[in-house]
Amino acid sequence: MSSSDEEGGEEYLFKIVIIGDSAVGKSNLLSRYARNEFNLHSKATIGVEFQTQSMEIDGKEVKAQIWDTAGQERFRAVTSAYYRGAVGALVVYDISRKTTFESVGRWLDELKMHSDTTVAKMLVGNKCDLDNIRDVSIEDGKTLAEEEGLFFMETSALDSTNVKKAFEIVIREIY
Ligand code: GTP
Ligand code: MG
Repeated sequence: MSSSDEEGGEEYLFKIVIIGDSAVGKSNLLSRYARNEFNLHSKATIGVEFQTQSMEIDGKEVKAQIWDTAGQERFRAVTSAYYRGAVGALVVYDISRKTTFESVGRWLDELKMHSDTTVAKMLVGNKCDLDNIRDVSIEDGKTLAEEEGLFFMETSALDSTNVKKAFEIVIREIY
């Protein structure tokens, strides 16, 4: 966290990272939250992108710098730089693909290995609009989150369900 004095009070800036397998919807969660945009045909992320988003908590402006990288190893940015200074994380899987849920443990290990401080973590089961082809139960998501001490939420970047909530719970927890 960094804070600097500005007119009218203090301003806070938090770094949050989004991680998870390729195509779980990380980039669309970010674009839905930051710009209210969704892309059905989005390309795999290459390298790193980030967006800064403000919200007000207790009358103070809180800014989150949200980082998004590739789920695919070959497109990843330098791992240590990606995680450096992060105080929040969204660990995302796709509720219609169990393999992406089975990868969550590895993503948590990587996060743990590269983070120097306490990180507020949210387990995110994305694509809950695909309930008809669900491959991971809500119960399994909840159980894993409890075991690992994470918040849990199912979201849909497509229809906006819980997207704002997921980010803002993490931001509030940090604050
Ligand atoms: P990488 O950049 O390769 O790591 O993938 P990503 O996790 O950023 O996934 P991305 O946001 O690019 O989304 C992958 C695909 O899933 C795209 O075709 C999206 O349109 C689709 N998608 C993302 N979120 C949702 C969702 O909530 N519901 C549905 N039905 N499709 C989604
Ligand atoms: Mg992406």
